[in-house]
Amino acid sequence: MKAVQVTAFGDASTLELTDVPKPEPEEGEVRIEVKAAGINFADIMQRRGHYHGGPEPPYVAGVEVAGVIDAVGDGVGRSEGDRVVSMVGEGGYAEYAIGDARSLLDVPEGMSFEEAAGFPVQFLTAHNCLHEWGDLSADETVLIHAAAGGVGTAAVQIASAAGARVIGTASTAEKLETAAKLGCDVCINYEEEDFVERVHEETDYGVDLVLDGIGGETTERSLDALAEFGRMVSFGAASGEPGRPPTDRLLFGNKSVVGYHLGRAANRKPMKVMGAVPELTELLADGTLKVQLGHTFDLVEAAEAHEFIEDRKSSGKVVLVP
Ligand SMILES: NC(=O)c1ccc[n+]([C@@H]2O[C@H](COP(=O)([O-])OP(=O)(O)OC[C@H]3O[C@@H](n4cnc5c(N)ncnc54)[C@H](OP(=O)(O)O)[C@@H]3O)[C@@H](O)[C@H]2O)c1
Repeated sequence: MKAVQVTAFGDASTLELTDVPKPEPEEGEVRIEVKAAGINFADIMQRRGHYHGGPEPPYVAGVEVAGVIDAVGDGVGRSEGDRVVSMVGEGGYAEYAIGDARSLLDVPEGMSFEEAAGFPVQFLTAHNCLHEWGDLSADETVLIHAAAGGVGTAAVQIASAAGARVIGTASTAEKLETAAKLGCDVCINYEEEDFVERVHEETDYGVDLVLDGIGGETTERSLDALAEFGRMVSFGAASGEPGRPPTDRLLFGNKSVVGYHLGRAANRKPMKVMGAVPELTELLADGTLKVQLGHTFDLVEAAEAHEFIEDRKSSGKVVLVP
């Protein structure tokens, strides 16, 4: 079968379309004929070799697939032909991938495979960071960085649906237009204005919650935008640098920073992580939430797809279609 391997740590040119044996499901697993593979920023961090505990090359990239079950291992209560979406450890950029039966979610009625491939990682991350980790309530204000990105578009919709006031940042007017259409109340182009100053113009004391998937200097600057007793959820470092929040600023401001990692939390506390699935599925089915499909690439174009995201040209979810 065709699969895209990361052949060495490095830039997108290390992604190569290769022929590899079709995988066989073991006990508790299914094989999925992949109809769409979600691309996540984590795939890029892993390819660069900047991901704690990430796979060693050569490996088939991709942690999220949507498709049809075409083979079932022992002890699995699933059938061939089921339309499913799965978070897989690796191996998603391929014609077939192996999924742990416990991680399978049904593709909601009326949802395309491309949309389904944009659902679990980014919507669960957005929901968990806002609610389970961030404790957002309807009378609060949340600052969402990269508001037009994959997690960002999910977070703007979920926070807005929960009744919170949403302030979003992005690097272009076009991205901010996307965020505004999804429910962002205040849209800040941080290339043109200082996001901290603008937050203080728009709020009495600052925001109650920050979703920080950027890291680097954005993290410490976001502390300036955070009200006393405010919370920040740190869930990524798209800037390429981890954030380094100074503890003295936390203690004197009664502010807190908490880390979130979907995969690790799903292993340790599956109910805390997956508990939002029924609610999210319902909100996606009734149209309250929508996966924002940004761009679809062919499997063979995986390197272009990575560059597209790294060059910050993407909005919403980017998927590969085998
Ligand atoms: N912890 C977890 O379990 C978990 C799960 C999912 C995602 N994440 C993290 O969440 C973040 C967002 O992931 P995503 O897949 O939804 O990606 P994304 O937001 O669609 O893409 C990344 C965005 O980050 C912004 N950005 C700022 N500085 C950047 C830089 N130097 N290079 C590239 N982009 C930069 C860009 O938006 P602007 O152009 O608007 O600045 C870009 O579009 C990532 O840090 C990812 O690792 C973490």
